[in-house]
Amino acid sequence: MVSDKDLLAYDYKKDFPLLANMDVAYLDNAATAQRPLCVIEAERDFYLKHNANPLRGLYQLAMEATDAYEDARTAVQKFINAKHFEEIIFTRNTTESLNLVAYSYALHNLQPGDEIVTTIMEHHSNMLPWRMAAAQTGATLKYIECAADGSIADEALAQAITAKTKIVAMAQVSNVLGRLNPVEKAVELAHKVGAVAVIDAAQSAPHMAIDVQKLDADFLAFSGHKMMGPMGIGVLYGKKKLLDAMPPFLSGGEMISMVSRDGQEYAPLPHKFEAGTVNAGAAAGLHAAIDYINSIGFDIIEAREAALTRLAFEGMRQIEGVRIIGSPNVEEHKGIITFTIDGVHPHDIAAILDADGVNIRAGNHCAQPLLDHLCTGATARVSLAFYNDEADVRRLLDSLKTIRERMGYGR
Ligand code: ALA
Repeated sequence: MVSDKDLLAYDYKKDFPLLANMDVAYLDNAATAQRPLCVIEAERDFYLKHNANPLRGLYQLAMEATDAYEDARTAVQKFINAKHFEEIIFTRNTTESLNLVAYSYALHNLQPGDEIVTTIMEHHSNMLPWRMAAAQTGATLKYIECAADGSIADEALAQAITAKTKIVAMAQVSNVLGRLNPVEKAVELAHKVGAVAVIDAAQSAPHMAIDVQKLDADFLAFSGHKMMGPMGIGVLYGKKKLLDAMPPFLSGGEMISMVSRDGQEYAPLPHKFEAGTVNAGAAAGLHAAIDYINSIGFDIIEAREAALTRLAFEGMRQIEGVRIIGSPNVEEHKGIITFTIDGVHPHDIAAILDADGVNIRAGNHCAQPLLDHLCTGATARVSLAFYNDEADVRRLLDSLKTIRERMGYGR
């Protein structure tokens, strides 16, 4: 058994120019990750050596650009173990991926009386597109409630998913609670009633291995920028049969195979869903991020993040006035610790931490219904990544210990 100290001994920050060159404890990884040099260089290399418009040109440079783009798709396919290459659709981010499913699947498959089932803890991106789809089709959007510790009971799932359910949409890991949700069970129950299961993997894909065939998810979405890739590139995985039957989300260049004066034939998958010039530079960067993750391995990534979370969690629990939101068990926080400090507004917490060189997020974390459900209002959130280290956590704890006094308590 490797000790936490040994686990945390290796310095990954040297791979990350921003972290290596700046005196900052970056603990806002759930909002966006930092990028290792190999990702920055892969994107730069695309523009320096291979830039042309992919998928169109017949000259050498354009073919290189196409190869860079399609090689990235193969890397993503392997990363999540998708059966088919064309099941990987590049989008801008998780939000766009989920909107694609809402517009191209939900609007064409729902009718009045149907139900979409989601949870109260979803990021707004996995809630508002379904609300739109429900409003436009006459379907109903139902929320599964979670307990104060963030857990979703099997009975709550079984009660919510009925013969009326057509879509079940759930985050694999909550961006506020850090809790792993029972997505396997949700997929199983959805399939039992003939519904499709949509998984928001924005907060899971960077931190754990995902096997879409094993999970049997119908759609799964994640963002490049949260897993050390560039901003502006996201992924939608969809089962081929479903994607084939869906109309395009956006229309225009490259998503057609033929256009006449009055009609068109759409391109086959995956390009039917990738209208316009694609972000090949970002795709090349995402490919490098996947290679980098693979070179480390999720066993190490998960173990380090768990060790860092333990350190922060135990320390925070001992600080007067700190209240951790969600489960009291550290094992149920996948790198995310959301909290309040009695009498101190979360924006003040974030501002004081920033003055001490610690970056965290404060506010509603794009999950306002969850915070309303838990009656917390705004909160502060620490989110860790494997490249953080013990010094980052110590810096966080040292600063947190002083906050109440600096806000005038106990004087
Ligand atoms: N969804 C991101 C977060 O949780 C932006 O911070």
